[in-house]
Amino acid sequence: MLSYQHGYHAGNLADVHKHAALCTVLEKLAQKDKPLTYIETHAGRGLYDLSSEIAHKTNEAAFGIESVLKARKIPANHPYLNLLNRLRSEIGKQYYPGSPFIAEALLRPTDTLHLMELHPQEYQALFRLMRYPNTHLHNRDGFEGALAICPPMPRRGMVFTDPSYEVKTEYEKTAKFVLKLHRKWAEGVIGVWYPILRENHHFDLIKPLQDAGLPKFYNAEILFKHPKTAMLGSGILFVNTPFGTQDDLDAIKHWL
Ligand SMILES: C[S@@+](CC[C@H](N)C(=O)[O-])C[C@H]1O[C@@H](n2cnc3c(N)ncnc32)[C@H](O)[C@@H]1O
Repeated sequence: MLSYQHGYHAGNLADVHKHAALCTVLEKLAQKDKPLTYIETHAGRGLYDLSSEIAHKTNEAAFGIESVLKARKIPANHPYLNLLNRLRSEIGKQYYPGSPFIAEALLRPTDTLHLMELHPQEYQALFRLMRYPNTHLHNRDGFEGALAICPPMPRRGMVFTDPSYEVKTEYEKTAKFVLKLHRKWAEGVIGVWYPILRENHHFDLIKPLQDAGLPKFYNAEILFKHPKTAMLGSGILFVNTPFGTQDDLDAIKHWL
């Protein structure tokens, strides 16, 4: 099923949580002078126009990134804030970066990116956007694609997975994917974003991963004060969380 379009939701509070955490981890990984591989299973189109008709239909960014920026909640020099400032001054204030854009911005031309996106239109938009010669685009199922190329070369790096959770079985499927991926690439960092809904489907994702005793497991959840949609909160988890990022990841909860 491919009815989900991230353009309706880009820049909402869940995106702020997800992208601030992603920036924190990528900045840390890029500090080491060694090339790395970044793989994304559900990439989206990479860049979102918040002045578009579909963004206006939901207006989610107004209660997300726009209100967070207005309240000056993000600490100065946070890589997420630096990226947003650069993007808004260079391309336009109405644009919001998706995770592939963030990855290209924070990583180096010597790093290798693999971005998977199944939706033909989102894939085409991503194809037009991405610049680095080492960025490889895959119009294929991200779970299957990531497992097929892992462990990657270079072997140091990360897989980020951000499914649309259109069907409730996707939570359990994501947990199985993480466990399988970790068996194939034990030292790889794995990041997963998930929504918190009233029905608590995310327990099907979190419980098997907590029970598995995965190394350097990090999990944080934010419940929104005034939820504007059926999404009550946002969750993020990492396996092999890079050393020294935990405090910065925890801090995001406070400024949200
Ligand atoms: C939540 S959005 C991704 C947003 C993006 N990660 C970001 O933060 O900017 C999920 C994306 O996954 C795509 N998608 C859905 N099922 C997929 C699959 N099995 N494999 C790859 N992409 C898929 C959808 O078309 C959608 O663009």
